[in-house]
Amino acid sequence: MTLIAPSILSADFGRLAEEVQAVEAAGADWIHVDVMDGRFVPNITIGPLVAEAVRRACSLPVDVHLMIQSPERYLKAFVDAGADRITVHQETCPHLHRTLQEIRELGAAPGVALNPSTPVESLREVVSSVGMILIMTVNPGFGGQRYIPESTGKVERVRALLEEEGRPELLIQVDGGVDEGTAPQVAGAGANVLVAGSAVFGHRDGPAAGIAALRASLLEGGV
Ligand code: DX5
Ligand code: ZN
Repeated sequence: MTLIAPSILSADFGRLAEEVQAVEAAGADWIHVDVMDGRFVPNITIGPLVAEAVRRACSLPVDVHLMIQSPERYLKAFVDAGADRITVHQETCPHLHRTLQEIRELGAAPGVALNPSTPVESLREVVSSVGMILIMTVNPGFGGQRYIPESTGKVERVRALLEEEGRPELLIQVDGGVDEGTAPQVAGAGANVLVAGSAVFGHRDGPAAGIAALRASLLEGGV
């Protein structure tokens, strides 16, 4: 089954609890929290305080995506705030194996994210230390961007690498430009967790309609 993880990046922060409760009621599987520091990526968003507010507002898994330099400094703060999953970028972790271990020791599920230009091969040494691979399907920093078409092939290559390494059960998450048009193709390539911000919170008929449209597109796509 393909999971849907709405990103609060595109939510109305003046009504964040309501927005999170709306997507929970509409059948979202996780809440994706995009953390940005204005250094690793050109945008600044939120920190542990907002992750804690999301935790209080719903019972869905809180899936934190750290787009920040030196993420190891904040792992405990996000776990204490209620993060169930923490994904760090390979590009920000010179000691990635140890950082993933620290996330697990803190009790959260570790994930590693790759920017569009980072080769899949860089994952091979950490597939035994991670529960999820996040493939950025846009250049990180902002919601509402266009899906990078080459991402579909990259997801297929990650799926193949996981099979080769005997880890077919690992989750592949995609993030950026996922909507009714791209969801079936990226799920068909092997992604099983879809992050969607603008396609959900920016949907003209509201977030519940956004989730329903994604689910319908996956059904029509046979994935
Ligand atoms: C980094 C963010 C975005 C966001 C998804 O850029 O991670 O990718 O979550 O944004 P949409 O779904 O609006 O492309
Ligand atoms: Zn994200």
